[in-house]
Amino acid sequence: MKGVVLAGGLGSRLHPLTKVTNKHLLPVYDRPMIYYPIQTLINAGIDDIMIVTGGNSAGDFLKLLGNGKDFGLKHLDYTYQEGEGGIADALSLVEHFADEGPVCVVLGDNIIEGNIRQAADDYRAQGGGAKILLKEVPDPQRFGVPELDGDRVLRIEEKPQAPKSDYAVIGVYFYDSTVFEVISGLEPSARGELEITDVNNHYIDEGTMTWNELDGWWTDAGTFESLLRATNLVAETGANRMSLGAAVS
Ligand code: DAU
Repeated sequence: MKGVVLAGGLGSRLHPLTKVTNKHLLPVYDRPMIYYPIQTLINAGIDDIMIVTGGNSAGDFLKLLGNGKDFGLKHLDYTYQEGEGGIADALSLVEHFADEGPVCVVLGDNIIEGNIRQAADDYRAQGGGAKILLKEVPDPQRFGVPELDGDRVLRIEEKPQAPKSDYAVIGVYFYDSTVFEVISGLEPSARGELEITDVNNHYIDEGTMTWNELDGWWTDAGTFESLLRATNLVAETGANRMSLGAAVS
């Protein structure tokens, strides 16, 4: 399974921090934000990785990451998203890289304490369809929120005013190769983006979506509050710490 880190978008919720640089190059404690999602993939045994950049300072990703030596990689792939067409639009750019195989997609501003290895193994064993990861949160209205019926996810709503559960769909997704066909059939949402939630609802309707609950803490880092929280969580408890430390120092 190949891995994808989505690091496009304009990061407008972090202006003026993102006026001249890309959100995913900003520091989270002692490392640039993008280090964490890359390490998430590597810790799950995924080392064939494409970074989708966009917006400001795209060239700095190359300077920072090169061929991935800090992570023990021999090679990294890159592509560039024009504009801010949404998460599913960014994902559509990796079709050629995916080469008709499954992909694990991590949003570039999502940081986890633990490991997604079990979810990756479960998804491999599933043999197709999609998998999402859920985490109980105090503020579900900020995220994609699932409506659950026992083990089944019935529907996901993007940033609902009246959430149907206390869970957030975190920014780690597993898809089979049909995802690109699904994306090509999407219409932009009210905010003018191709939504990953619409992709996920397609798999739910098809009956091929499964979910795991994430162990350990999770946070995004795309607002001032969550960026500060991410920094504090990493400083206090570490994130992917052992292997990241081992890889960089
Ligand atoms: O963090 C998890 C949440 O991420 C999910 O619960 C939501 O369902 C999902 O829609 C997303 O919500 P956000 O509105 O917080 O996503 P945001 O626009 O902040 O984008 C998250 C990352 O996706 C961003 O760090 C880089 C990537 N992205 C985003 C856009 C809009 C791109 O690569 N290209 C884009 O055009």
